[in-house]
Amino acid sequence: MNQDSSAQATGKRAAAEEAVRRIESGMTVGLGTGSTAVYAIRKIGEFVQGGLSIRAVATSVQSERLARELGIPISPFADIDGIDVTIDGADEVDGAFNAIKGGGGALLREKIVAAASRTLILVVDESKVVRRLGAFPLPVEIVPFGKELTLAKLTELGGNPVVRLARDGSVYTTDNGNYIADCNFGSIGDPGRLTAQLNAIPGVVENGLFVGMASGVIVGRADGSAAPLVRQS
Ligand code: A5P
Repeated sequence: MNQDSSAQATGKRAAAEEAVRRIESGMTVGLGTGSTAVYAIRKIGEFVQGGLSIRAVATSVQSERLARELGIPISPFADIDGIDVTIDGADEVDGAFNAIKGGGGALLREKIVAAASRTLILVVDESKVVRRLGAFPLPVEIVPFGKELTLAKLTELGGNPVVRLARDGSVYTTDNGNYIADCNFGSIGDPGRLTAQLNAIPGVVENGLFVGMASGVIVGRADGSAAPLVRQS
């Protein structure tokens, strides 16, 4: 993960904290992953310490650990029958609220949690709002078995996949024991079509395109303000 500029960090924090204001006692809350989600989890932790009564599910081992440290009650997925609101970051968001996610490697659990959520709020700093998705490499989670074949299929599709490495140079492994192929499709004209094409490859578990999943996007700015993004038709 690259180091954020202070403007980006201020925007991320402003967006995350604005979103957390929408959480009410009694809700089941999905906790996202990444540096923006961390601001949200910390703020939720403060509210819980102040008496907010919620239960939460996490999209990664890392977010679950932080939530537990802050005293946020975590429920196993098996014990919940739906999520009222999930607050999560994104790597890019367009005007139709479609997004690329998975820069932090948690896209599979993030998508499972998003799909179970009545409301998914994406929280981003203003640098992540784009006219068209695709400048950010699209993370695709693939199973280790047969990865050469899967990478060849991703190449055929025009994705120029690169297997993600960890900081120590070993192959990065997700919380689910899989690999990430970071793909570069260039500007993505039809995210829905691409997501279907990617998920039709047998070794692909999931991809980082979140199409039609977000109900809202909150954008934080360098001056510390945050506001909902207006959806373009
Ligand atoms: C985690 O896998 C991602 O989907 C993150 O939500 C996304 O990469 C945004 O990360 P930051 O909030 O750290 O920029």
